[in-house]
Amino acid sequence: MIVLPLFALYNIKCLFSIFIKKFCGTHEPTRCLELSELGRKILNNEELTLSYLGKCVQDSYNPTTNKGGYVNFGTAVSTLCDDIMLARLNAPGTFEFEAKDLHHSTMWGTSECREAIANLLTRLLSPDRPLHADNVIVVNGGSAAMEVLACNLFDPGDVLITPSPCYTRIFRNFNDRFQIQVVDLFLREKSSKYGETATFELTAALLEDGIRDHIARGKNVKGFMLVNPNNPLGDVYSPELVVELLFVCNKYDIHFICNEVYAMSIYEPGFEFQSVINMKPLPNPNKTHIIWSVSKNINLPGMRLGAIITWNEEFIQAAKNGCIYSSVSTVAQKIITKVLNDPGWIEEKFLPTHQQRLREAALKTRAVLSSLGIYVRPAHAGFFLWADLRPHMKEISIAGEIALFEEFLNHKVYIIPGSVVHCVEPGWFRIVFSLQSDILDEGMKRIAAVLKGLSTPKKLHN
Ligand SMILES: Cc1ncc(COP(=O)(O)O)c(C=O)c1O
Repeated sequence: MIVLPLFALYNIKCLFSIFIKKFCGTHEPTRCLELSELGRKILNNEELTLSYLGKCVQDSYNPTTNKGGYVNFGTAVSTLCDDIMLARLNAPGTFEFEAKDLHHSTMWGTSECREAIANLLTRLLSPDRPLHADNVIVVNGGSAAMEVLACNLFDPGDVLITPSPCYTRIFRNFNDRFQIQVVDLFLREKSSKYGETATFELTAALLEDGIRDHIARGKNVKGFMLVNPNNPLGDVYSPELVVELLFVCNKYDIHFICNEVYAMSIYEPGFEFQSVINMKPLPNPNKTHIIWSVSKNINLPGMRLGAIITWNEEFIQAAKNGCIYSSVSTVAQKIITKVLNDPGWIEEKFLPTHQQRLREAALKTRAVLSSLGIYVRPAHAGFFLWADLRPHMKEISIAGEIALFEEFLNHKVYIIPGSVVHCVEPGWFRIVFSLQSDILDEGMKRIAAVLKGLSTPKKLHN
């Protein structure tokens, strides 16, 4: 069962290292003697998503100033609410320097910022189990949160399991500097027969099998990370499933890390989401941790501010002792504090607008893709859709997927192929839709042009 996916991933790695060399350019592996072993590993491990984020930022499509630039359907950010966010941040009284902003503060987060996060999460996600500021550690983003968890909970070689397709940075964030072995728990289409709905279903039994399998192979399974709502699938996992997963982790005495960076980006009305912060009783509160960030939840990735929520006192103390490496600028904390402490704006204006605009953009993108004969899996949250492009591939393989990816790049459209996010079923792509409508329209035109240039699509879904 496990051999095939591992082999598939090995192929993905090889193909993508060739691909990255071709498109992103890379450094000569042997000519970097000045670097440490770890430095060399990181140097030679260039990543497609970060490379293309850089390329797209430098040469991004603009309808008036850069018509030939990239349309970035690859990076999961939302610019849909930039107008209201800018108006709020530039409003008089949002920020003014005081002497204390010029100097050191508590580096695990100012008490004001931790309190503002605790209060916001209590109001929005955890009314039954109010969150205290002492259980919040502020760090510079969700990515840094993963590193702080990696550093303080895991030893080199320990295993962290995460469902795939996944947010691939989890692998780098845990492995680059702390050498934790992140392994996929592969989710599959329910049936590989064409015409059936794809499910990519996660179950507690699948997790338990995965844990057992790695233990049987002599691994020290130390943790499980669930991304809920899911990136790249856009699924919101039911509270019942999350409880079952918590119990499986408790049974094997492993850490349960719930990444809730999309918790406030659920755009289907009436969809039930229950944060782990609000669950009680937790089977193992000492081994339950939540990641939160302003990057997706309030569309401020440039602020580099995230948080770890945990009830583990020892972990909190260890994180505080090491927090100088992940501390956030007092300026960013002060601005975020002001915004989060404004329920009249955040709850009544920002979040409803954010969710409504996400919904509209998702519906529009789905409709255009469907008109192009592309099956798009149902989704309820996040900034992306999970689309099946197999009907447009010359061959249904990783090579076929990369060929189509390259075709899109030739038309200056960047879309993440499923193999980059560790999908074992070739042909799926993640398409980010949370873009201003003129950019979205241009990108859709380019996708249509690429697909029209290919041979007639095959019909796979009803
Ligand atoms: C699931 C998930 N976690 C973390 C991050 C990164 O968050 P941050 O920008 O706060 O480091 C992302 C960004 O795409 C993400 O999708």
